[in-house]
Amino acid sequence: MEYGPAPEQADIALIWLEDHPRAMHPFINGEFARFMDETYFESINPRDGSPLARLVQCGETEVNAAVAAAKAAFPSWAALTGHERARYLYAIARQIQKHSRLFAVLESLDNGKPIRESRDIDIPLVARHFYHHAGWAQLRNETFIGYEPIGVCGQIIPWNFPLLMLAWKVAPAIAAGNTVVLKPAEFTSLTALLFAELLQQISLPPGVVNIVTGDGQTAELIVRHKDVQKIAFTGSTEVGRIIRRETAGSGKKLSLELGGKSPFIVYEDADLDGAVEGVVDAIWFNQGQVCCAGSRLLLQESIAEKMIEKLRHRMENLRVGDPLDKGIDIGAIVAPVQLQRIQQLVEQGRAEGATCWQPSWALPKEGFFYPPTLFTGVEPSSILAQVEIFGPVLVTMTFRTPGESVELANNTTYGLAASVWTENLNLALDIAPKLKAGVVWINSTNLFDAASGFGGYRESGFGREGGSEGMYEYMVPSWERFLPFYETSDVALRSYPSGTPANNTRLEPLIDRSPKLYIGGKQTRSDSGYSFTVEDSVGRYISETGLGNRKDIRNAVEAAGKAESWSRTTAHLRAQILYYLAENLSVRASEFSDRIASLTGNAKEEARREVQRAIERLFYYAAWTDKYDGHVHQTPFRNVTLAMPEPWGVVGVVCPAEQPLLALVSLVAPLVALGNRVVTVPSWRFPLLATDFYQVLDTSDVPAGVINFVTGHPDELGKVLAQHDDVAALWYVGSAKMSASLERESAGNLKSTWVNHGKRPNWFDDHQTQGWEYLRHAVQIKNIWVPYGE
Ligand code: NAI
Repeated sequence: MEYGPAPEQADIALIWLEDHPRAMHPFINGEFARFMDETYFESINPRDGSPLARLVQCGETEVNAAVAAAKAAFPSWAALTGHERARYLYAIARQIQKHSRLFAVLESLDNGKPIRESRDIDIPLVARHFYHHAGWAQLRNETFIGYEPIGVCGQIIPWNFPLLMLAWKVAPAIAAGNTVVLKPAEFTSLTALLFAELLQQISLPPGVVNIVTGDGQTAELIVRHKDVQKIAFTGSTEVGRIIRRETAGSGKKLSLELGGKSPFIVYEDADLDGAVEGVVDAIWFNQGQVCCAGSRLLLQESIAEKMIEKLRHRMENLRVGDPLDKGIDIGAIVAPVQLQRIQQLVEQGRAEGATCWQPSWALPKEGFFYPPTLFTGVEPSSILAQVEIFGPVLVTMTFRTPGESVELANNTTYGLAASVWTENLNLALDIAPKLKAGVVWINSTNLFDAASGFGGYRESGFGREGGSEGMYEYMVPSWERFLPFYETSDVALRSYPSGTPANNTRLEPLIDRSPKLYIGGKQTRSDSGYSFTVEDSVGRYISETGLGNRKDIRNAVEAAGKAESWSRTTAHLRAQILYYLAENLSVRASEFSDRIASLTGNAKEEARREVQRAIERLFYYAAWTDKYDGHVHQTPFRNVTLAMPEPWGVVGVVCPAEQPLLALVSLVAPLVALGNRVVTVPSWRFPLLATDFYQVLDTSDVPAGVINFVTGHPDELGKVLAQHDDVAALWYVGSAKMSASLERESAGNLKSTWVNHGKRPNWFDDHQTQGWEYLRHAVQIKNIWVPYGE
């Protein structure tokens, strides 16, 4: 039987477009604002290249006006009750549903995606997101106790899911009580402007949501604006890096949802026909222009040929064509520049020797179309296997054993998503935690829901959208506002250690002690061959200790990397070891407090309190170790969605100068409790507390490599940690200048950073230096979708 076209009527969307004959204006302070000297750009229909609308390229005037409106609207929006905000979000959800077809048609006209997808996936998910977040608005005060909104949020979104990405950004931001300046992608701004009209209809207070149109230059103005307190970005990893560097030191909260090269793994016992349909959804959904597209098909050798054969047959039956035709599978590529990018990468792949296969049928003559494409004979290190193509191009590779499949799957700098196909649930649940990805779908793919967090590991970014994790991205703990800044006279900011020998004489001839670094469970000499002098609070010589360098940090990271089994061991065991550590510290409590008092010059009572608090904190995190659980989300599919907190892996910790024992324990204990291994730069001023502490580690069964100490210059060593690709996250407490520098340096592998921006916490205050915020920062959430039913 031949297919006949089944076109969706576009009349109403076209009339809406005709109602804006000259240009569409940015939405600022509740109005479509007009300014002098506007410049315009065109939005085109990728189906045939015809113009759809003219939009304003917003510059400084427009962005400043939008930020000012959001800033002015913030206090009264934040002061509404949760219920009042919930009513607005609910009204938005209802309006989206009432006009769902108009939104869907406009989205397909502007983006080129099949109407089936915009109608059945994008727009229903948009409505779902606002409903879900109407709930969070209502429940915020009782659910996120001690947290408050941030202020003005700048949000920059891509073109692949224009309205859906808007919903993912706007809904949590305003539910939490923030106001927003959002910039849609330059190729696809139309549904955002239709959304703005809907906000007028529901009388959302002016300034709560502002929408400015334009390209990357407009986005940069938002990123740099001093009155914007949070940036949320979805787009390419390259731009994510630029934004990380640009916002470094500004104190802006940042979440990045970036690219991916997600594996789709098929084991030999999988239902191959089901897996073929899965592949269709994984890589030909939205023309493959999906950040979490299953673009690397990893096949167990024994079924590879059969699966490829089935896939070719299925590809031969896929239909590419008019996005508004209800019967087509694959629509148009968003813009000529994206089409060229795909073509170039495919050519490079061919030149590298991979075999390219495309169906025999011809593409439509007009418009920006690309056929579904399958590459075999692909080397794991080749361009095709490593670079995000963002088009309907699938590459296949084979593996022999489950172990090999994990290695191949993780052989990328990205970590957004993965699909695992097998009828053996034990195997699937064994593989899922081993995959470095924020989402793992078992026998399924591309499932999304507002209740479940979405976001990446590694260079796919940090932060989550959806669920409670997504709400935290738009709030800050209330105590942060009250922290004072370190004074320049503070001990923390005085001159740092150097390797010159001491010129102050010893009080009395002591047996020379030589505290060393502590790496991989061993006391080691510094590679630098230099030592620095440790003085007491009045400048008397106490000791010398190793001046750690770049190589020492590398060695410590390697040792921490090898201690990987700590991340897999039971929470019960980790708790026991932390309790034991507390016990052994308490045995030596008076020795430690004498040491603190003599070094810091603090009163004996305060020193005693410091040790007691450190013991208490070890108990506190031992208690949390087997209680900081994940969730099973209520997503509207026949499945359980397991939100699992996973340790980052190797985390760098740079401690402040003050409270040398308590600060160290406050930073290291939550990380270690939840399964991380740490490379710690202890207080440079009083490093002997750390060098004493490793003796306690030695007696407490802490496995080698789990906690490592490199003493020395905190800025130099911190920088090495920030640049190191095998360090997944970095915590720093110290100066504002160094906080900025570390955020900038972290852009290399886009590690998650948690820095204090020069603010001085009170280490004796449990609100500020213990608790939920520390636990939250110690893990990243992986969502594993497990379907059930025959
Ligand atoms: P892009 O990352 O340049 O664009 C995404 C958004 O960032 C747009 O709103 C754009 O205006 C804005 N932007 C551009 N330059 C910026 C800057 N310097 N500062 C702040 N914002 C800026 O992505 P593009 O160029 O549209 O696509 C290129 C490639 O990026 C694609 O082929 C794909 O590989 C990847 N990409 C990934 C997406 C994802 O969801 N992970 C989405 C879009 C693109």
